[in-house]
Amino acid sequence: MTELIARDQATLRANDRGGYTVPTSRLYPFQWNWDSAFVAMGWATFDAPRAWEEIELLLRGQWHDGMIPHIVFHAPSNDYFPGPDVWRSEHTPPTSGIPQPPILATAARAVLAANPEGEPRMAAIFPRLLANHRWWERARDPDATGLAATLHPWESGMDNSPAWDAALRRVPTDTQTPIIRRDISHVDAAMRPRDDEYRRFIHLVDLFRETGWNPARQYAASPFRVADVATNAVLLRAERDLLALAARFGTPADSQEIGARIERRARAIGGLWDAARGLFLARDLVGDAPIRVSTSAGFLPLYAAATTPEQTASLAETYAHWARACAWMIPSTDPTDPAFEPKRYWRGPIWSVVNWMIADGFAAAGRRELAALIRAQTCRLTERSGLSEYFDPTTGEGLGGAAFSWTAAVDLLLRTPAPA
Ligand code: DGY
Repeated sequence: MTELIARDQATLRANDRGGYTVPTSRLYPFQWNWDSAFVAMGWATFDAPRAWEEIELLLRGQWHDGMIPHIVFHAPSNDYFPGPDVWRSEHTPPTSGIPQPPILATAARAVLAANPEGEPRMAAIFPRLLANHRWWERARDPDATGLAATLHPWESGMDNSPAWDAALRRVPTDTQTPIIRRDISHVDAAMRPRDDEYRRFIHLVDLFRETGWNPARQYAASPFRVADVATNAVLLRAERDLLALAARFGTPADSQEIGARIERRARAIGGLWDAARGLFLARDLVGDAPIRVSTSAGFLPLYAAATTPEQTASLAETYAHWARACAWMIPSTDPTDPAFEPKRYWRGPIWSVVNWMIADGFAAAGRRELAALIRAQTCRLTERSGLSEYFDPTTGEGLGGAAFSWTAAVDLLLRTPAPA
C-alpha cells in the first residue's frame, strides 16, 4: 500500500464516528447525505462491512415518505448551525428537512460490486432506494416533466454557485431564526458563502418548516425553484444504477417503472443543452428560462450517459477553453466569468467529487485520454495540498476544511484499481 492510500484510509478512520463518517471534524460534525455516498464507495476499497454500515446509517434518517435528508444528526454538537432545533423535523434520529444530490443508489451498486457477499444487505437496502427515487418524482416533479426541482441551494450541494444568484435574490433576507454562523469560526470567511446568502438560506428553512415539511406545500411556496443540472444528472445516473439493481433485487414492474423514468429524465436533460456555450445550463422553474451561468455542473450529463457524440465533443472543447484560463482543473465556475472567485466555496474552487464524476463521464463517452488527465490532476492536487475540502484552480492551494472525507474517498477510488 502506498503512503497516500494509507493517508486516505487513516483520514476516513479518523472521521469515523461509529458507523458514519463526518465530512470533517468541527465544520461538519454530522452525517451528510451525498458526502456519505462517496465515502461509502471509498470505504468499499478497503473495508466493505464499514461501507455497508455507512449506507445503513444514512438510511436511518430516511423519512416515511422516502426522502433522504441532507443531514442526519446522530449525536449533538454545538459546532454547526443550523442544528436540529432549527429544522425541527420530528424524525428519530433528528434530521434536516431537505435532500441532496441522490447518489446513493450508485454508491450501493459500487459497494456491492466490491463486495458481492454483501448481497443480503443490498436486498434490504433496495426497497429504500426505490422509495427514495419515487419520492423524487412525486415531490419534485409533480407534472412528470422529467426534471426534478431543487428548492434550496443547499439541496444542490453547490450552495453559493453563481448559477443560483438571480433565483436566490427572490428570497427575502428576513428570518425568524437568529443566524449564528459557526462555519466562519472554523474556516476563513473569504472561502465561505456571504452573510446575505445565509439569511436567504435560513429564510427558506423557516418557510419550509412552516409548511410542516409538506412536499407539495414547499414546492408551491418556494420562491427558489430551479432544475439543477448536477442534481438531475446524478439522479439519472442513480436511476440507471437502480435499474441494474432491480434486475436482481426488484420485480419486473419495478424495472419497468424505473425504465420509464430514465427515458423521461434523459430526454429532459437534453433540453438543458446550450449549443452556443457548449455546456448544459440549469433552468429557473419560476421564470421558466435558462440560467445563463456556466458552471462545472454543466458537464455532469456526461456522468449520466445523457450526451450525444456532438455534445461530448463540444464539452471537451469547453473543457479545453477553461483549461487555457486556469492552471488547475476543473473550476466550479467558468474561470472567464466575472462571477468566478477562485477561493470562495462553489464560486470557483475545484471539488474532487465533481472531477471524479466528470472524468467517469468522459471515459464512458470514449474520451479516455481526457478522463485520465482529469484523474491524474485530481491526484496531483491531493499530493501537493493534502485532503482539503476544495482547491484554488489558479494556484492548486488547498482551501476550506482539512482532512476531508470525500476528498479522501475520491482519492482512494482514483488510486485503487476497481475489482475485475
Ligand atoms: C453547509 O452548511 O455549508 C452545507 O453545505 C449545508 O449543507
